[in-house]
Amino acid sequence: MKAWISPSILAADFSRLGEEIRAVLAAGADTIHFDVMDNHYVPNLSVGPLVLKSLRNAGIHETVDVHLMVKPVDSLIADFIAAGADYVSVHPESTEHLHRTLTLIRESGAKAGLVFNPATSLTVLEEVIDILDLVLVMSVNPGFGGQSFIESSLDKLAHARELIDASGREIRLQVDGGVKVENIGRVAAAGADTFVAGTAIFASDDYATTIAGMRREIASSSS
Ligand code: DX5
Ligand code: ZN
Repeated sequence: MKAWISPSILAADFSRLGEEIRAVLAAGADTIHFDVMDNHYVPNLSVGPLVLKSLRNAGIHETVDVHLMVKPVDSLIADFIAAGADYVSVHPESTEHLHRTLTLIRESGAKAGLVFNPATSLTVLEEVIDILDLVLVMSVNPGFGGQSFIESSLDKLAHARELIDASGREIRLQVDGGVKVENIGRVAAAGADTFVAGTAIFASDDYATTIAGMRREIASSSS
């Protein structure tokens, strides 16, 4: 599976969001990570489906993965897919009926992701792995960009990698939080193939140099 570098919009300049997204894509990003926060499930507020719809209408056609940090979650899923989400990822704590929520994502036409917070066990993964397209291991507590990578996430990624490989299914293993050029090699070695990075890319002087540096570290982690 090709490694994907996925800048998180949360660290972009929101006054120029479309330009920022075009800039990271031109700089070599593979997909866009769209963080949605509700000041309820997480202590912060970001953007809704109207913003994604505007970006699609403005001609941004690349893959967007929507990370829903909202509770309740089911009522927003159809809106985000209608707005242009390719992947929709949810936290098990945000829904009473996880199987129903994941099925809803797929039946509405998107790929389904399941997100594990640092203190959330992977136990539930084996119950729903047959209907997943993406597993996201949070390497910070959700709610804010710019936090430090939690080192125990490496073991969790390795465990998730084992479960995904044992399933024999094509499931992406994504990591989100505190990922930067300095640690992305270790994160790749632990088994991640999809790398969210907000601050590390958008706060850097040159997006292309940063993304190229990340790719170099990922490549050398497997050699
Ligand atoms: C945290 C978000 C992340 C975050 C990543 O709740 O899900 O996507 O914005 O930002 P950095 O890379 O700055 O940790
Ligand atoms: Zn995220």
